[in-house]
Amino acid sequence: MTPTTPPNLVINLCINGRSLCREVAPDLKLIDFLHEDLGLTGTKFCCGLGVCQACTVLARSAPTALAEPLLACVTPVSALDGQLIDTVEGVSGPNGLALVQQAFLAHFSFQCGYCTPGFVMATVALLARLKAQPVPVERLDEAIEDALGAHVCRCTGYARYHAATYELALQVLRG
Ligand code: FES
Ligand code: FES
Repeated sequence: MTPTTPPNLVINLCINGRSLCREVAPDLKLIDFLHEDLGLTGTKFCCGLGVCQACTVLARSAPTALAEPLLACVTPVSALDGQLIDTVEGVSGPNGLALVQQAFLAHFSFQCGYCTPGFVMATVALLARLKAQPVPVERLDEAIEDALGAHVCRCTGYARYHAATYELALQVLRG
């Protein structure tokens, strides 16, 4: 007997502020949807296994909810019905780079830059969380490690990503 293909699903989601309604295959990964259907190639594909975090985007269930990092290489887009998704294209302000991107540039945090979109998105989420739920300054290193520690940078920019993020996070904590 020939195995039957599961039917496509109709989903509604919002990507970088743009509402979409699409019919998608149940196993279509978010990264392929972003790249192939929407032409949003800023989110990078690397390990494809949910390990390196290069493909990190942000997901929220409502506009006022805190964004949570989400790995686009292992997440089926069909599981995101009703979600708001932000990719690296969505954090760039109309007049230039977002603060996080400016800080990474100023600190020479990256070399090839392949890991950078993932670090940008995780840092954006961390700063929003620190604004809503501040931590004592003495726990800032730990909070940054929790947020960024799993991200792989093959050019070993870890210390400079950490330094840039620490500077931004201090500004958030000090208001
Ligand atoms: S490409 Fe998604 S975690 Fe590595
Ligand atoms: S800057 Fe090259 S992988 Fe991180």
